[in-house]
Amino acid sequence: MYAERVLSGMRPTGALHLGHYHGVLKNWVRLQHEHPCLFFVADWHALTTHYDNPQGIEQASWDMVIDWLAAGVDPNQATLFIQSRVPEHAELHLLMSMMTPLGWLERVPTYKDQQEKLAGKDLTTYGFLGYPLLMSADILIYRADKVPVGEDQIPHVEFTRELARRFNHMYGREPGFEDKAREAVKKLGSKKARLYDELRTRYQQAGDKEALEQAKAMLGDIQHLSAVDRERLFGFLEGTGKMILVEPGYLLTPESKMPGLDGQKMSKSYNNTITLRESEASVAKKIKSMPTDTQRKLRTDPGDPARCPVWQLHQVYSDENTRAWASQGCKTAGIGCVECKQPVIDGILKEQAPMRERAQVYLDDPTLVKNIIADGCEKARELARETMRDVRESMGLEYH
Ligand code: TRP
Ligand code: SF4
Repeated sequence: MYAERVLSGMRPTGALHLGHYHGVLKNWVRLQHEHPCLFFVADWHALTTHYDNPQGIEQASWDMVIDWLAAGVDPNQATLFIQSRVPEHAELHLLMSMMTPLGWLERVPTYKDQQEKLAGKDLTTYGFLGYPLLMSADILIYRADKVPVGEDQIPHVEFTRELARRFNHMYGREPGFEDKAREAVKKLGSKKARLYDELRTRYQQAGDKEALEQAKAMLGDIQHLSAVDRERLFGFLEGTGKMILVEPGYLLTPESKMPGLDGQKMSKSYNNTITLRESEASVAKKIKSMPTDTQRKLRTDPGDPARCPVWQLHQVYSDENTRAWASQGCKTAGIGCVECKQPVIDGILKEQAPMRERAQVYLDDPTLVKNIIADGCEKARELARETMRDVRESMGLEYH
């Protein structure tokens, strides 16, 4: 069976934290065993909002790749690369910009949302408006079938689908497509040709999916058709012409429930994070200074775990026995908060140990990371060049 290609990107915004690990990275690590995967550093995307201060982007990119590797993303299974090192993304972005209606971009919900959220920043720029189009180019250039994204990014994938459809419709026809398709229909023989026309009409006019399936099955069964004619007949049937760009689907990454140090969701903007490779001493210090049930003022006061952010971390890091011990001990004042926090500290350190170990190899020898990325960029470019050949040809830019 054809293995669906997965593609996802991440902006280099600084050290990744345990929320990223439990939300996105664990998911990538799982996917890399099931699909051919491409994961990339979206450094140009960082520029859409940080154009005035691009200096940190390179370092943040290398650090982020090390975080991925630390989390278990395996360069032997997945292709890892940096967006700006595959300039074909920019070419596709440019070509698609010619046929992207402004209204489509203005309607993408993140456009106004982000402008309001980042009010201190001037985001009335061409690049910021075009950011969903850049994301579409990232996806379409690899003919990705599945794009893992968070909920906020779903509209971008929908936008990408519409754009692919528009592109295929506009450029996916060879000159004289319709005449050639009608010629191919005649070659089916009168009986099958009549059936094909009837099924095609039922599908195109009434949206009859069964008719579509029946027609496809019929075409599939015919031996004497050339590959070109078969493709024409499929395209004519569905009204798509030739498929140059592939409409991607998305894979919703469930929102990370990882709680932060204050009980809110872990997020850099709340300043409540533990980074993937945070030092052991710092992890212990952060957990030890976490707030607990504010109504438990004295060691001898019983508390209520439901009011305590530490308890939420027990849900992530402790087994059932430890949780029973903590809950019971809290409610009866049998244990103190310092004691209660220790298994959480241990759990986090245990989770981080293999990450720290994997990262160390790359920190000791940064050329390893550079080589992984150089290889990944080369592989990605090969795929991107292939798509661009078809795109240029379909737009009449081959210059033979
Ligand atoms: N826009 C995504 C984000 O901000 C990052 C991204 C850029 C991306 N290009 C992509 C994700 C392509 C998936 C596919 O999180
Ligand atoms: Fe929180 Fe544990 Fe202290 Fe109870 S004993 S308040 S759950 S840290």
